[in-house]
Amino acid sequence: MHSTTPFPAEKLTTATTREFKHHLVMFPFMAQGHIIPFLELAKLLAKRTGFAITIANTPLNIRNLKPKIDSTGAGLDIRLAELPFSAASHGLPPQAENTDSLPYHLIIRLMEASEHLEPHFERLLRRICQEDGGRLPLCIISDMFFGWTQDVGHRLGIPRIQFCTCGAYGTSVYYSLWIHMPHNQTHADDFVLPDMPQVTLQRSQLPPIIKMATGSDPWYLFMNRQISRNVRSWGSICNTFEELEHSSLQHMRKSTGRPVWAVGPILPFSLVSSSPSDTIADSDFLLRGLAEEKSSRACLQWLDSQAPSTVLYVSFGSQNSISLSHMKALALGLESSQQPFIWVVRPPLEAPLNSEFSAEFLPEGFEERVKEHKLGLIIRKWAPQLLILSHPSTGGFLSHCGWNSVLESLSQGVPIIGWPMTADQFANSKVLEEEVGVCIEMWRGKEGELEPETVERRVKMVMKEEKGNRLRQRAAEIREAALKAVSEDKNGEMKGSSVCCG
Ligand code: UDX
Repeated sequence: MHSTTPFPAEKLTTATTREFKHHLVMFPFMAQGHIIPFLELAKLLAKRTGFAITIANTPLNIRNLKPKIDSTGAGLDIRLAELPFSAASHGLPPQAENTDSLPYHLIIRLMEASEHLEPHFERLLRRICQEDGGRLPLCIISDMFFGWTQDVGHRLGIPRIQFCTCGAYGTSVYYSLWIHMPHNQTHADDFVLPDMPQVTLQRSQLPPIIKMATGSDPWYLFMNRQISRNVRSWGSICNTFEELEHSSLQHMRKSTGRPVWAVGPILPFSLVSSSPSDTIADSDFLLRGLAEEKSSRACLQWLDSQAPSTVLYVSFGSQNSISLSHMKALALGLESSQQPFIWVVRPPLEAPLNSEFSAEFLPEGFEERVKEHKLGLIIRKWAPQLLILSHPSTGGFLSHCGWNSVLESLSQGVPIIGWPMTADQFANSKVLEEEVGVCIEMWRGKEGELEPETVERRVKMVMKEEKGNRLRQRAAEIREAALKAVSEDKNGEMKGSSVCCG
């Protein structure tokens, strides 16, 4: 961690007679891309500090978290707290408590509904305080989409830290766009961010919700409500590391005037290891707690049968899908590239809510052909991503550039073919291509006519050609830097930038 500024102790209620454990309360937004890094951060904090950690969320998310805590957080004092939530009373489909069960246009409704958790969250904090003999939790670590928790913390006198699950560059660009709407000040295709003059964006790099924002639409209002509070938070934690994003972290520090700690990459403990002998342990670790252990083993077996660095992994995260025509072009392009692949498929955008994936969404006979020729493995809905990325056969990742996917890929030295779709993903793809040198962008957004040849060309370039070797080499360097950032020697004397205190 990068600042030694102490917590504002005067705001904490003094401890009473009994000896207490310090208590941290964490609160992720209800999306896998947020819950996963929060959980890993909770485990790290519990392991390093011995503090009690309570993770708050809605009932369904808590129920899904429980087995993960039981299997990978054993021995750590991580507690779970359910906050009452009724999806239906917010105009959401029943049981829709996570973005992974919502089409994109309903995500804003879940976000707005999350603001109604405020009284329940406050009650939880008061209850914890009561149970801890009047001692307030040491701090709240809450999501960048939960700026409103700043108000709760302020009322109770508990410091609140925002946890940015995006990178520092992605967060800064995303915040800047929402605050300044610079594309509305010009008719040009390119525009500069007023608070980051070194960044020029193209209109095609605008997340659709920002492109369509009017200044009075729900997304604009929600994001500005959160950001205006986030910038007042006591500090920020970013899932990134200094060696990867030093200048963007410095920008965040300068623009908020508050501490910003880079603590990443936050990945399961055993994955962040440089020892090849850990590979088996890693696989076992990752398989434990996976509901579909059998399909994970099948996946591993398939990867074992491929040559090193030849498999392209294709996945667009936990909440994105693509159009039917893009799906068909992607399938044909993959097939003609003749590069082995694992593709996590979800129903296309046009499919009804909660429908199952059907072979009809793919070109005729595609699934049979790739199976017969052992060219590809198609996984429906959810794959053991870390397991795949950490396998030596995996040599590239066609990704939407969600930040967790980016970190997971780079920490395994796997270069990226970018297909950003929304939020911070455009900024992530841009910085990875232009500044870090580990990515080639293939497509932007969910519109337009994608040709199979575009897919084929990009795949070959990264998986077969010299350009791909350069990207792989650079990704390997980033992996080394990532390992160093989270490293610590046995005596705790030598610490990487993401674990040191000063
Ligand atoms: C979202 C945003 O899109 C992203 O830009 C932001 O930085 C975090 O929140 P998401 O779109 O789901 O997340 O993408 P990503 O950040 O990549 O997170 C997905 C997580 O789910 C990763 O940890 C990935 O390993 C996991 N996952 C996804 C799987 O394990 N299996 C899958 O099949 C899909």
